[in-house]
Amino acid sequence: MKGACNSLLFAFLLSAGLAACDFRSQGEVIYQHSCNYCHMEDGNGLARLILPFEEHRFVEDRQILVCTVVKGLDQGDTGHFMPRFDKLDHAQLANVLNYIRGLKKMQAPPFTDLEVSRLREACH
Ligand code: HEC
Repeated sequence: MKGACNSLLFAFLLSAGLAACDFRSQGEVIYQHSCNYCHMEDGNGLARLILPFEEHRFVEDRQILVCTVVKGLDQGDTGHFMPRFDKLDHAQLANVLNYIRGLKKMQAPPFTDLEVSRLREACH
């Protein structure tokens, strides 16, 4: 029992410590944890394997973007796979998409939790 309490305490201190030292936004943390290894640090993807994020899609294809992240892709334009991220809540999804907007210095309007929840409902 004492061991369990100690490890709980340790986990608490660790997460409090990480939260205190981590100045990255939630969107950046999610991106670096879950998206980086395919889309790369700069969002430019991987040569001909994964295409760069394009601003016009963040303006015109917001429905497709949200559904792509939630449901993943069997095959993108380049024939490659993207896993589904259906565990992200609306705010996390909005934050990671907004992080990409910032990363690529896009003028596309920011995503809000409300917009993401509405678009998400419409994914098939
Ligand atoms: C295993 C690799 C992989 C991971 C991990 C991954 N993606 Fe993707 N993603 C892809 C591929 C492949 C495509 C299709 C792009 C293409 O056709 O080249 C794609 C497409 C997209 C698109 C649509 C882009 C467009 O212009 O239509 C968005 C938005 C996106 N990913 C966001 C994310 C986010 C956000 C994460 C992390 C939460 C993520 N992806 C993680 C492989 C990945």
